[in-house]
Amino acid sequence: MPLAGKVAIVTGASQGLGADIAKVLADDGAQVVLVGRGAEAGNKVAADIGERAVFFETDVTSDEAIDRCVDFAVKQFGRIDMLVNNACSYADQGLASSREQWFQTLNVNLISAAIFTQKAVPHMAPGSVVINLGSTGGKFGAAGRAIYPASKAAILQITRNFAVDLAPKGIRVLSVSPAWTWSPSTESMSGGSIETADAVGAHFHPLGRVGRGEEIGHVVSFLATDKASWMTGADVPVDGGFSMLGPDRGISPRAWFAQLAPKQD
Ligand SMILES: NC(=O)c1ccc[n+]([C@@H]2O[C@H](COP(=O)([O-])OP(=O)(O)OC[C@H]3O[C@@H](n4cnc5c(N)ncnc54)[C@H](O)[C@@H]3O)[C@@H](O)[C@H]2O)c1
Repeated sequence: MPLAGKVAIVTGASQGLGADIAKVLADDGAQVVLVGRGAEAGNKVAADIGERAVFFETDVTSDEAIDRCVDFAVKQFGRIDMLVNNACSYADQGLASSREQWFQTLNVNLISAAIFTQKAVPHMAPGSVVINLGSTGGKFGAAGRAIYPASKAAILQITRNFAVDLAPKGIRVLSVSPAWTWSPSTESMSGGSIETADAVGAHFHPLGRVGRGEEIGHVVSFLATDKASWMTGADVPVDGGFSMLGPDRGISPRAWFAQLAPKQD
């Protein structure tokens, strides 16, 4: 129980990685406040996790809703030791995105993480930690997308900035960057088949599949323990090796030449 006695808030926890991260933190002993929209789904996830989980309906784009959520956590559990900024929107039309679309997606993915951090910090004691969800999507070029990757690149930057600002308070700020992970989005792309997701993911992740939400959760949990007490401002790739590969995907030049070079008569 490495997180016994700790209180965690996880945003966007009514499905996907947020729900998986919340489960790992609760299994590791933390009391977890799951944050999200949609009380029905959120309450169900909390009930499935068990007695150390409670759902608090919160739209992270509302300052008043964040205030109510922070108040609830502090009144109910007396402290906040961990904030996991996980909530996200994938809404993105790339170059065709309107100003309103830019605003909406950045508001969820970036601005809400900054404001939630601002509002939680006054209740965090030395030794507490803020963990932001980055993504390999924020590190490389990709077709047809702009807002989501920009938000993820920016969240790594505010991780560094807030780490500097909060270091004197003894609060660490970190990010984890998953690659493709089994979640509602990969589920929909693979027609609901994890085998299909793994088979496609094997082409891009040296470990030969897509990630699992609990594998992200275990790293988040470790980063929240005192065993990671000398880490702040860093991004931790949790991506099966996706981001250490270059465009040749680790395949030797000889193999690429054999496959792609014009045939000589
Ligand atoms: N799934 C992946 O393959 C993957 C890969 C890399 C990074 N990530 C990151 O992991 C995190 C979770 O991703 P996911 O795939 O599980 O996403 P998801 O879309 O399944 O879940 C996101 C959650 O955020 C919630 N949310 C959205 N707007 C909100 C708002 N205004 N207020 C409160 N909650 C709100 C949604 O309702 C949802 O429950 C994201 O930060 C994402 O960038 C995911």
